[in-house]
Amino acid sequence: MTEAIRTRLWIGNEWADSGTGRTFATVNPATDETIAEVAEAGAADVDRAVRAAREAFRDGRWRRMDPHKRSRLLWKLADLVEANADELGLLETTDNGKPYFEARRVDVPSVARTLRYYAGLADKVQGDTVPVPGPFLNYTLREPVGVVGAIIPWNFPLSMAAWKVAPALACGNAVVLKPAEQTPLTALRFGELAAEAGFPPGVLNVVPGFGETAGAALVRHPGVDAISFTGSTEVGRIVMREAAATLKKVSLELGGKSPNIVFADADLRVAAKGASMGVFYGKGEVCAAGSRILVESAVHDEFVDGLKTLAGKATVGDPMASTTRLGAIVSGEQLDRVMGYIEAGRRDGASLVAGGDRVKVNGRGNFVNATVFSEVDPAMTIAREEIFGPVAAVIPFDGVEDAVAKANDSLYGLAAGVWTRDIGKAHRLAAEIDAGTVWVNTYNQYAPGSPFGGYKESGFGRDLGFHSALEKYTHLKSVWVALDR
Ligand code: NAI
Ligand code: MG
Repeated sequence: MTEAIRTRLWIGNEWADSGTGRTFATVNPATDETIAEVAEAGAADVDRAVRAAREAFRDGRWRRMDPHKRSRLLWKLADLVEANADELGLLETTDNGKPYFEARRVDVPSVARTLRYYAGLADKVQGDTVPVPGPFLNYTLREPVGVVGAIIPWNFPLSMAAWKVAPALACGNAVVLKPAEQTPLTALRFGELAAEAGFPPGVLNVVPGFGETAGAALVRHPGVDAISFTGSTEVGRIVMREAAATLKKVSLELGGKSPNIVFADADLRVAAKGASMGVFYGKGEVCAAGSRILVESAVHDEFVDGLKTLAGKATVGDPMASTTRLGAIVSGEQLDRVMGYIEAGRRDGASLVAGGDRVKVNGRGNFVNATVFSEVDPAMTIAREEIFGPVAAVIPFDGVEDAVAKANDSLYGLAAGVWTRDIGKAHRLAAEIDAGTVWVNTYNQYAPGSPFGGYKESGFGRDLGFHSALEKYTHLKSVWVALDR
């Protein structure tokens, strides 16, 4: 590590001790070693951070700043993220267990892109003039909602921070960010970089801590106007219920069990690669993971052979090694959860084609190899529940109707993939699948301009995008002016 790891709370552009006096360990899941003891925010610390954000919002130091200047600060932060990309990539890999290649070459650059995209939004937060009857001028103003509480998960810690923080700040809000307890380090560094870029104090605050304490305090705090949450469906329900007491604006990006649908007329070699990447990328700890692979019966066996070969090539190893494709599962708890699902698949009679093993690298760490179950019945647990690990469930289907029915037979609706050379079929499926994102002959594509979020129990509200950011992070005010008096 080039510099000391930041481990205190980040409030009002300063490092602060936690009022609880407690710390929690954050662990490198590839080595089981404690990386750092991080100050644990309690309710009083969250209150301090919310007050700092409220004050920064109230006095207008951010929302009334020349929008061009706000834009330049977001751009400057992107520059600093890039200038510190090696350090941020290393922190992310050490904290999360993902391959350094992914953290450094995918996550960190995407954070810079997201910041620059929303730098472009900062001076475009505008309303309309509305034709109304009578001698009146009516116009709308897009105003920031106030203080946004952002609660994020551990799978893409810095990317998720950027997905929430960049649009919220671009729209003129102040933010209190609560990173996941498993991966607090990059968020803290991000807060510090924002201060270095020139963001005024209180505009971005970072409070590491646990969900039931720090997270819950943020959701309940009357000084917080909106909660932007990404995490499990289970906690999403709690957040919505708790936020009701103060009627916060809530957006929830939750779990998924996304279908990746392979038709017999697809380029099977390309589809197998796409399906493999779709479920194994990021160790499968991806909310949009294509973990239900629906394969047309006629090509089932041939496809499964291809997928099995690719699973065998997904090298498990030291996240710092360039040959590694599957890094370490984020925590022992998550590893147990994944192994429990693999056990359930076996017990329920699915056929284990590849993987299924807990692996150690250099005698330590939380690793699982790329796992494929075939002939999975849609009623089985591994076909219904989010596993959040490198485990694919291959389910056969017959024809378009059956594909749509099976794809939509889920409580979730986050994303879907369709592999076919038939353009009509592709568009029909895109229209009929209940999912916030549909990828055709590709998978896991993201861009700051393209909205991302769920249908059904995958939540509501959208991250990324232009209009979706305005909807989420601004109020629309209507102003009437009489013209005849
Ligand atoms: P989680 O939903 O508990 O954690 C996500 C975030 O919510 C963390 O920052 C956590 O501290 C916070 N949180 C937890 N309880 C809270 C509460 N009562 N009030 C406010 N904030 C709270 O997810 P967890 O336990 O880490 O993972 C469990 C499962 O959830 C995973 O196996 C996976 O299936 C799913 N998950 C889905 C994610 C997604 O991107 N859709 C991300 C993380 C987990
Ligand atoms: Mg939890």
